[in-house]
Amino acid sequence: MYDAPLQSSATAARVRRAAIFHDFHPGEDSFRDALVAGLSRAQKAIPCRFLYDARGSALFDAICELPEYYPTRTELRILDDNAVEIATVVGPDAQLIELGSGSSRKVRILLDALETPASYVPIDISREHLLAAANAIAGDYPEVLVEAVCADYGQAFDLPQNLYGGRRTGFYPGSTIGNLEPLEAQAFLARWARRLGPGALMLIGVDLKKCASIIQPAYDDAAGVTQDFSRNLLVRANRELGADFDPEAFRHVARYDPASGQVGIHLLSERDQTARIGERAFTFAAGEPVHVENSYKYSIEGFSALARAAGYAPTEVWTDEADLFSVHLLRVL
Ligand code: AVJ
Repeated sequence: MYDAPLQSSATAARVRRAAIFHDFHPGEDSFRDALVAGLSRAQKAIPCRFLYDARGSALFDAICELPEYYPTRTELRILDDNAVEIATVVGPDAQLIELGSGSSRKVRILLDALETPASYVPIDISREHLLAAANAIAGDYPEVLVEAVCADYGQAFDLPQNLYGGRRTGFYPGSTIGNLEPLEAQAFLARWARRLGPGALMLIGVDLKKCASIIQPAYDDAAGVTQDFSRNLLVRANRELGADFDPEAFRHVARYDPASGQVGIHLLSERDQTARIGERAFTFAAGEPVHVENSYKYSIEGFSALARAAGYAPTEVWTDEADLFSVHLLRVL
C-alpha cells in the first residue's frame, strides 16, 4: 500500500501549526519608577500589575488552588456547565480574543464547545508565557488559526482582522475587571466595545458581592499564600532593585466593604521602619498601610448597568448554585 505521502502530509500539517505572533513590544515600564512614585505619595501604594513576576505568577497559581479561593474553580464550573449554550449564542467560525490569556487554560472549554472556531487571539504582556501557551493551543487545535498578540490589553493596538465571518468574541475571565475602580472598568469596557465593533460579543467573568465570611478568607487564606503574594512586591524590589525591605515586617490585610464591593488589600507596617531603594529612603510608621490591590465585587444588576453604560446589551448571565461568581455574555451595541 502506498500511504506514505498521506501520512507525511498529515504530520506536516500538524507540525506547521505554530501560532502566528504579533509583537507590539509592550513598554516594559519601570518597576523602580512606579515603586518610588507610589511610596512617595501621602497614601503609599504600589501598582498591582507588578505582582506578577515569575515568583508572583507561581504564587497566584497556588492561590487558585487554595480551598478558600473560590473564583477560579467556580468560574471553570460555570463555563463547563454552560459551554453548549455559550456556543449556541456565539455561533460558528468565531474569532475568540482573550484579554490577558496567561496559560490559556480556561479557553479550552470554549474551543472544545464552539462550532468550528476559526481563530483564537490570545493577548498577553508576558512574551515567553504567551508564546508557549499559544503554541500549545495551536498544537492541540490544529484547525484553529492562533494569532498571539504580545501587548498590554489596556493600551491601544490593532487587533488581527476577523477573516472568517464568524462572531468576534472577547473573553475576559477571572474577574480581573475587579482590579479597576468601577468607573475605570466602565471606561475600559467602552474602549473594548469600540475595538471589537458592533455586534461583537464579550464573555466576562465577574465575582459577586456576598457575605464577608466567604470573601474575606479568599483574600487572606490560612496558609498565608496570599500574604506571600502581596509581600512578593517587596521581595521583588529587594531582588531586582537592591532594596532592603524586611518583607516579614509588613502584614497583609484584606478588607471587604459590602457597600462598595471593594476588597482593599494593603501591607501594614508592623513597626516604625525605614527601607532604602538605591539612594531613596522611605519611612513607614507602625500601622501605616501600603495599598497593593483592589478586587471589586459586583451584583449582577450592578455589573449589567455598568456594561450598558459602556455600550453593551447584556445578553445572558450564568452563575453557580451558591451565587458566588457570574459569567456575563454582553453584545456590543
Ligand atoms: C487576578 C485580579 C482576579 O482579584 O481575585 C487574588 C487577584 N489577589 N488574591 C482577584 C488576587 C489576591 C485576583 N485577580
